[in-house]
Amino acid sequence: MNILVTGGAGYIGSHTCVELLNAGYDIVVVDNLDNSNIKAVETVKRITGKDFPFYEYDLLDREKLEEVFADNKIDAVIHFAGLKAVGESTQIPLRYYHNNITGSLILMELMEKYDVNNIVFSSSATVYGMPKTVPITEDFPLSTTNPYGSTKLMIEQIMTDVSKANPKLSVTLLRYFNPIGAHKSGDLGEDPKGIPNNLLPYVAQVAVGKLEKVHVFGNDYPTADGTGVRDYIHVVDLALGHLKAIEHCSGKAGVHIYNLGTGNGYSVLQIIDAFSKACGKELPYQIDPRRPGDIAECYADATKAKNELDWVATRGIAEMCEDSWRWQSNHPNGFDD
Ligand code: NAD
Ligand code: WQD
Repeated sequence: MNILVTGGAGYIGSHTCVELLNAGYDIVVVDNLDNSNIKAVETVKRITGKDFPFYEYDLLDREKLEEVFADNKIDAVIHFAGLKAVGESTQIPLRYYHNNITGSLILMELMEKYDVNNIVFSSSATVYGMPKTVPITEDFPLSTTNPYGSTKLMIEQIMTDVSKANPKLSVTLLRYFNPIGAHKSGDLGEDPKGIPNNLLPYVAQVAVGKLEKVHVFGNDYPTADGTGVRDYIHVVDLALGHLKAIEHCSGKAGVHIYNLGTGNGYSVLQIIDAFSKACGKELPYQIDPRRPGDIAECYADATKAKNELDWVATRGIAEMCEDSWRWQSNHPNGFDD
């Protein structure tokens, strides 16, 4: 089976490419390297010992993207490519809407033209907006609080409408919770540009001495220790969820929706503690005001993925932090080292 991976040079995409190749799939990767590094692609090839076509193309460039469909017989698409920074999306919403939505439209138009009828899309727990309760099941009401989240919800809607019109199309919407961790080799991991927005890469850069201390955004939430609680999931578990989705949903027309999380919530202070243990040193932090738009608690009910995809996350928080630390300490400057 030949799988087109858009955004395959990125954090989750590159880890998924490794697992796809290890499982014997053929892949074709398209990425414009807007938020990634060609070295991620080279690393995927090196650690798997396998080669594959890589196109440094933008999904917005229809002619170029069409070359990929014309040159390769594609059976399924895993669509990671997109811009993902919540804060930035409020500053430059048009860029987010154009990149994420127009890119997805062009991709789906070419899938239709080349009769490719399976797509797995990177959605996000952000489509649950401000959930009233936890854990979150797939049938919770959907809403968004920022343009990034709106692009995810709109693309879900677009894909659902296209599936209704095409009785052959299989759409799988995977709603990820908070991916962290890195490949066991210590040579593939998250490499954010500039100061990280997300907790884990920030903590990792404090641990390696690039940042002074962790800023904890609020300790007055109605949680056990007052700090925000999230469902952190190892990126390799997440990657394996894509293989299960391809295996179980390809060829089954309609829309399939799954939460990919562990079902466990950890607070910011628990994460700092787990990371301190992984790196063997106390990590300095200070309590700051809440970050606007943040919610107290967010974690998945991942029973549906367990029952229907035969998928569960098996890697715990200690392993997630150890693997992040191996990557960060081997590569303090990410792929630029
Ligand atoms: P990432 O930024 O590391 O990877 C996305 C990749 O897409 C990058 O390599 C980027 O260069 C590429 N890209 C962006 N726009 C493109 C375009 N127009 N044409 C070609 N390539 C393009 O992000 P990630 O963390 O690996 O996330 C992958 C997907 O999962 C994204 O769609 C993201 O929104 C979604 N997601 C991420 C998280 C998370 O916390 N990391 C959580 C939920 C959902
Ligand atoms: C986690 C917790 C913060 C940074 C985001 C997106 C979501 C999804 C995953 C894409 C929260 C706290 C953070 C810091 C902190 N992405 N925090 N200090 O906000 O749960 O989710 O990434 O779809 O859509 O919104 O992740 O890692 O930013 O925050 O105290 O420097 O850590 O308040 O409680 P979040 P995060």
